[in-house]
Amino acid sequence: RAVAIVKEFEEKCATPIGKLRQVADAMTVEMHAGLASEGGSKLKMLISYVDNLPTGDEKGLFYALDLGGTNFRVLRVQLGGKVGVVKQEAEEVSIPARLMVGRSNELFDFIAAELAKYVACESEDFQLPAGRQRELGFTFSFPVKQTSLVSGTLISWTKGFAINETIGEDVVSELTKAIERQGLDMRVAALVNDTVGTLAGGRYYDKDVVAAVILGTGTNAAYVERAHAIPKWHGLLPKSGEMVINMEWGNFRSSHLPVTEYDQSLDAESLNPGEQIFEKLISGMYLGDILRRILLRLAEEASFFGDTVPPKLLVPFILRTPDMSAIHHDTSSDLRVVASKLKDILGIMNTSLKTRKMLLELCDIVAKRGARLSAAGVVGILKKQGRDVAAAEKARTVIAMDGGLYEHYTLFRKFLENTLTEMLGEEVASTVIVTHANDGSGIGAALLAASHSQYLELEE
Ligand code: BG6
Ligand code: GLC
Repeated sequence: RAVAIVKEFEEKCATPIGKLRQVADAMTVEMHAGLASEGGSKLKMLISYVDNLPTGDEKGLFYALDLGGTNFRVLRVQLGGKVGVVKQEAEEVSIPARLMVGRSNELFDFIAAELAKYVACESEDFQLPAGRQRELGFTFSFPVKQTSLVSGTLISWTKGFAINETIGEDVVSELTKAIERQGLDMRVAALVNDTVGTLAGGRYYDKDVVAAVILGTGTNAAYVERAHAIPKWHGLLPKSGEMVINMEWGNFRSSHLPVTEYDQSLDAESLNPGEQIFEKLISGMYLGDILRRILLRLAEEASFFGDTVPPKLLVPFILRTPDMSAIHHDTSSDLRVVASKLKDILGIMNTSLKTRKMLLELCDIVAKRGARLSAAGVVGILKKQGRDVAAAEKARTVIAMDGGLYEHYTLFRKFLENTLTEMLGEEVASTVIVTHANDGSGIGAALLAASHSQYLELEE
């Protein structure tokens, strides 16, 4: 019975190359639709107001706040023009879970207080020229409808945040008010999504970076679009002729996606049912819980873990993706990591080697599907950019990636890279380079704050 359930699951999760091509094509189609008109697609294709990416000339001391990943981060970055980032210091704080579903002011007060604490213990190495206000790049990794580079209203929360009263509010003014409540003198100079920050940070180090993908708690991508290919943009054409688009690809959906009953129940029981369907198949917040759901079914219907259903298997999100990754990477002959994870997390003792092997197989199915779908998403972007075919002159296409899933789940990353080659073919794939932009979004936000500093003219 267990074997039959696993086999059925594997079939439903299958992502043969033909299906991936359909997903990539659907992604490209939705990108066009989302650019054509507001609400034209589930893909929001948000205009970032970033029409100039870092050049390397940025100078000065800037701060960055990064909210929306696993941890909340505060950074200070000393940019030295041509000599690059001179100094950088970061601090990570985890957001208390109650603040993710509490009151808006409490969340913003918490981050402003952390920012104030951070500023208070500034070392002498970081000096702002006398009389200058501190400037901040704010990475806010949720869908925001921007009205300028320094303002934008929250469209919806994702990834386990749910604070109704923030929706529709300008997140920069919410943060600014909280900063004032802390008595801190600081101005937000740029509001960016983490994908946009990562793209900017990536571009700073490599001029061929044309897209950025986050694979972490959530998943999303941003890329450089030609401004005149954005019919819904009614503003002036930027001098650069380009505009960075935050796709919010987590909300992509298509009939070609391999959605199973486990995904459907995960979605139905989530904080945002019907939303972020692509994200729920791919990202770190959800993979572990998909695994838990199939294990629960196996326990209930095939006595997978003995006569009784281990009660902990009923607890949503108890099995986290980092644990799934540890299980998946167990190469010991008796699969002892698998055994110890089962014991420590789920209270399941004495599993047979056969059971543990099956667990590994399930990890493989879930991770492979997520990784292969992300690769299809990337190919969708490359198609839109006309970079999925061999170019006459050998142009490099660099994609900056970041996020815990990409960084720590080695097999996921390998599946993703292999799938890119499988889809693009060796020749094109050899010109497409995926780089890890470590903490790129923080630096990117600081760089964008620098290029939009109120003191810019003084520098020239
Ligand atoms: C970080 C970026 O490295 O990755 C953040 O600096 C981003 O901006 C984060 O949000 C996403 O990964 P995770 O795993 O923390 O959700
Ligand atoms: C979610 C957010 C998106 C963010 C992504 C990665 O999908 O909606 O804005 O970029 O997670 O952090």
